[in-house]
Amino acid sequence: MKRIQIINGPNLNLLGKREPTVYGNQTFEAYLLDLKNRFSDVELDYFQSNSEGALIDKIQETGFTYDGIVLNAGAYTHTSIAIADAIRSITVPVIEVHISNVFKREAFRHHSYLSEACKGCIVGFGMDSYRLAVEALLNI
Ligand code: DQA
Repeated sequence: MKRIQIINGPNLNLLGKREPTVYGNQTFEAYLLDLKNRFSDVELDYFQSNSEGALIDKIQETGFTYDGIVLNAGAYTHTSIAIADAIRSITVPVIEVHISNVFKREAFRHHSYLSEACKGCIVGFGMDSYRLAVEALLNI
């Protein structure tokens, strides 16, 4: 069975409540149930943290043994050289995802420190960005 780790960064624990016009009304937990039903032959593990170090620990922990990582690092995308270095340090492919189309938003969201270290990026498809990332990882 393939194993994929989904990692969500800061404030993504508030999906469903947080800026619904940007991120929608669904909680990530509800969405994850749909995703698990759709990919019933894949082990989908989920981790969320608001702390940069905890995200790096999870990338290191799963980054040599899983089949892929789906990473939405939230605002750390635009600030974190340490997360970029963690992605470069592991062997498992990482797909960067964003729920919103960051390129339609403020200029500070247009740069990602992570993209260059990732296998690919999926941006702007709402929660469906995560499904597209899982599909991509299963097709590598
Ligand atoms: C986000 C986009 C980031 O700019 C923002 O800081 C987030 C969420 C997204 O999924 O659209 O927290 O990563």
